[in-house]
Amino acid sequence: MKIAMIGAGYVGLTTGACLSRFGNSVCCVDINQARVDSLRAGNIPIYEPGLSDLIKANVDAGRLTFSSSAETAVADADLVFLAVGTPPLPDGDTDLQFILGAVDAVAPHMRSDAVLVVKSTVPTGAAQLVRKRAVAARGGRAVSVASNPEFLREGSALEDFMAPDRVVIGADDGVAEDRLRRLYAPLADLTTLLVTSTANAELIKYAANAFLALKIGFINDIADLCEATGGDCAAVSKGIGLDSRIGEAFLRPGPGFGGSCFPKDTRSLAATGRRYGAPQPLVEALVERNLERQVAIGRRLSAVLGAGSRVTVLGAAFKAGTDDLRESPALAIVDALLEDGHTVHIHDPKAREVGERLVTGAKWSSSPYEAAAGADAVVVATEWPEFAALDFERLARMMSGRLIFDLRNIVDRNAALAEGFTLHSVGQRP
Ligand code: NAD
Ligand code: UGA
Repeated sequence: MKIAMIGAGYVGLTTGACLSRFGNSVCCVDINQARVDSLRAGNIPIYEPGLSDLIKANVDAGRLTFSSSAETAVADADLVFLAVGTPPLPDGDTDLQFILGAVDAVAPHMRSDAVLVVKSTVPTGAAQLVRKRAVAARGGRAVSVASNPEFLREGSALEDFMAPDRVVIGADDGVAEDRLRRLYAPLADLTTLLVTSTANAELIKYAANAFLALKIGFINDIADLCEATGGDCAAVSKGIGLDSRIGEAFLRPGPGFGGSCFPKDTRSLAATGRRYGAPQPLVEALVERNLERQVAIGRRLSAVLGAGSRVTVLGAAFKAGTDDLRESPALAIVDALLEDGHTVHIHDPKAREVGERLVTGAKWSSSPYEAAAGADAVVVATEWPEFAALDFERLARMMSGRLIFDLRNIVDRNAALAEGFTLHSVGQRP
C-alpha cells in the first residue's frame, strides 16, 4: 500500500520505517524543512537504537522517502497517518493545533477512498473532530477516519512496533477497518489486532499510559516507605510482581516518571475527566505526586551534600536508550541542585547536543570520569548500561568525595563499597 506519514518525529519515523519494512511505500512528511533535508542526506535527527539502519535499508530499497510537501505525499496514498505532536495546554488538556493544521494541509488532496488515521495520542472524541475538519476542508466530501494509537517506548521502539502486545484499530466504518487490518496483516500471527470504535481506541491509549504511570507512582511511594522502615524495595517489587495479577513490569522505583508521554498524558486524562464531569482523582493525585517527587529527590540530595558541593550527574535523558530530554527527571534534579547553590557537571552518552542548549547553568562532559573530576558526589539519574559498569577505582581517583546517589538502582553496590563509597539507592537505606 501507499502511505503518507505526516510528522517525522519519534513515532512518525519509527512507524514509517517499520511499515516500509513490511513492503509498503511510505513517504514521511515534516513541516520542519531542516529535518527533511537532514533525513534526505541520510542523517537521522533522533537517537533510537536500530532506526538509522532500518531507515537506510528501506530508503535504499526505494520504499521510504521524505518530503516537506504534504500535498504531493498524500495525493496517491491509501492511508494518511497523522503522527504530529500533541503537546499539553497550560490546564493540562491537549493542544490539537498540530493535528488540525495537518488535517487542513492533507484533507483537500487525499484520494476519495483514502483513510485518514490518527496515530498521535489524542483525547477521546478527537477522531470525530478530525473527521468534521477534514470534511469541511474537502468542501463537504466524506472521508474515512480511523484511530490507531501507538504503544512503542523510546529506546526499544523498533521491537515494540514489530512485536507489540497488541495493535488497537479504532474504526467506525468498514473501509477504515479493512484497510488497517490489511496493513497490520504481517503482525496478525504474532499479536492481537483489537478492533474497536475510534472513541474506545482513544480511551485505551490514555488508560494504558495512566495505568503504567500509576504503577510507577505507587512503587515510588512504597520505596519511600521502605527507606523509612528499613525495607528493600527491590524485594518488595519482586514479591508483589510475582503475582500474575500485578506483574513485574513498571515496578522500578526511581526519581519519578518523565518523558514526552506519561506526564502529558496523565495531565490530559485528568483534564478530560474534569471536562466531562467524570473526575479522575487517582490520576490527579499521581500528577502532583510525581512533580513533588522530582523536587523532593533534589532536596534530599542537597540535605546530604555539604553547602556549595560539586556534583556530577550521570544521565540527562528521561530514560536510557534515547536522547529525549522532554520532562526528564534528571533535569528537574539538576535545576534543584543548581538552585541550592551546588556546581553541576553532566554527562549523557546521547543527549549532550540538545542538553547544552537547554541547561545553561551546568557544564557538560564527554565521559563519566571527566565529569567526575574533583566531584564530591555522583548522581546516577538515567539507567544507561555504562553507568551500571562504572570503574569505581578510577572514579575514586578522579573525585574528591565518596558519595554516590543511585536514583536507578543499577550501580554495582559491592564494587562501590569496596572503594570506600557511601551509596544511597532508592527504596533502601544506605
Ligand atoms: P515529535 O515532536 O518527535 O514529532 C512530531 C513531528 O511532527 C515534528 O517533527 C514536527 O515538526 C512535525 N509536524 C508538526 N506539524 C506538522 C504538520 N502540519 N505537517 C508535518 N509535520 C508536522 O513527536 P513524537 O514524540 O513523535 O509524538 C507524536 C505523537 O505520538 C504524540 O501525540 C505523542 O503523544 C504520541 N506518542 C509518542 C510516543 C513516543 O515515544 N515519543 C509513543 C507513543 C505515542
Ligand atoms: C511510554 C509507554 O511505556 C509506551 O507504551 C507509550 O507508547 C509511550 O509512553 C507514549 O505514549 O509515548 P516511554 O515514555 O517511551 O513510553 O518510556 P517508558 O519506558 O514507559 O518510561 C517512562 C518513564 O517512566 C521514564 O522516565 C522511566 O524512567 C520511568 N519508569 C519506567 C520508572 O521510573 N520505573 C519503571 O519501572 C518504568
